Amino acid sequence: MFEITYAEALNESVFRFRIRAPRVAKKVLPGQFLILRVDERGERVPFTVSDYDRKSGEVEIIFQTVGATTMKLSEKRAGDVLCDVVGPLGNATEYGNAERICVIGGGLGCAIALPQAKALHRAGKQVDIIAGFRCRDLIILEKEMRENCRDLLIYTDDGSNGNKGLVTDGLRALAAEKHYDLVIAIGPVIMMKFVCLLTKELELPTIVSLNPIMIDGTGMCGGCRVTVGGVTRFACVDGPDFDGHQVDFDELLRRNRTYTEFEKERTAAHQCRIGLE
Ligand SMILES: Cc1cc2nc3c(=O)[nH]c(=O)nc-3n(C[C@H](O)[C@H](O)[C@H](O)COP(=O)(O)OP(=O)(O)OC[C@H]3O[C@@H](n4cnc5c(N)ncnc54)[C@H](O)[C@@H]3O)c2cc1C
Ligand code: FES
Repeated sequence: MFEITYAEALNESVFRFRIRAPRVAKKVLPGQFLILRVDERGERVPFTVSDYDRKSGEVEIIFQTVGATTMKLSEKRAGDVLCDVVGPLGNATEYGNAERICVIGGGLGCAIALPQAKALHRAGKQVDIIAGFRCRDLIILEKEMRENCRDLLIYTDDGSNGNKGLVTDGLRALAAEKHYDLVIAIGPVIMMKFVCLLTKELELPTIVSLNPIMIDGTGMCGGCRVTVGGVTRFACVDGPDFDGHQVDFDELLRRNRTYTEFEKERTAAHQCRIGLE
C-alpha cells in the first residue's frame, strides 16, 4: 500500500498529492511517469511525477479531474492509501546541449512542464516559461513557475488575467527578441500541434510529451502507439517525449477520442462526493 502523505487542491479541479513510494522516488527523473491504481478494482492511470524527494521516499503528482478515476482519486485525503504505484516509467527528458530553452505549458500541462523547467533552471540554463490557461481562476503553479525561470508569460483565452492570447502568441513575441536552442511544449494535443507548426516555421527544435491512452505502460499492449516520423512508436517505452516536428498529431487526436462515449458513461455513473461531509 502507498500512503498519501499530503493532499492539496490547487483549484476546483486540480490536485497536488504527495505519495510515499520509496522505490519510485529513488530513481525517478524529470519527464518520467508512474501508473497507479486507486483500489484493487481500479483502472491503471498514468501521471507524470511532478517532483520527488529521494530522502523521504515521496513522489508528487498533480492531476486534473477529468473522469471517474481522477474523481475517485481527488476524494482521497492525506493518510489514505493507494493500492498500487508503479514506476518510474518512460524515459527522462533529454535536453542535449541546449542552453536557452523556452518551456511551454498549457493548462494542466504546466504541472508536467514544471519539473523540466526546474531541472534546467537548477542546471544553470536560461529558461523562459510561457503558460496558457482558459481563464484566471484556472491558473496553477504561478509561484513555482516564476521561481524556475527568467521570464514568465501567462496567457488566458478569455483575457481575465489581463493578458489575452495563446501560448503561440507568446512564443512568437519572445522568439522575435531572443534566440532559443530548444522549445519544450507540454499540454493539450491541439496546443502541442500548433506550437510545433510555429516552431517548424521558426526552425526551433521542439520536444513534446505525449499522453496517449496507456494500459500496461511497459510496451506490451500497444495501446499507446503513436506515429513519429512515419514509424510506429510506443509512448510508454519510447517516450513520452518525442521530436514534435515528427509527430502525427491528427492521428493522436483521433486515437485519444476512441473511448470518449464509454468514459462519459463511467463518469456519469460515478457518485461524486467532493464537498460532502
Ligand atoms: C504519460 C502520461 C502522463 C500523464 N500525466 C498526467 C498528469 O501528470 N496529470 C494528469 O492530470 N493527467 C495526466 N495524464 C492523463 C491521465 O492519465 C488521465 O487524465 C487519466 O487517466 C484519466 O482517467 P479518468 O478515469 O479520470 O478519466 P476518463 O474518463 O477515463 O478519461 C478522460 C480522458 O483521459 C484520458 N485517459 C483516460 N484513460 C487514460 C489512460 N489509461 N492513459 C492515458 N490517458 C487516459 C483520455 O484522453 C480520456 O479521454 C497523463 C497521461 C499519460 C499517458
Ligand atoms: S501502454 Fe501498453 S504498450 Fe504502452
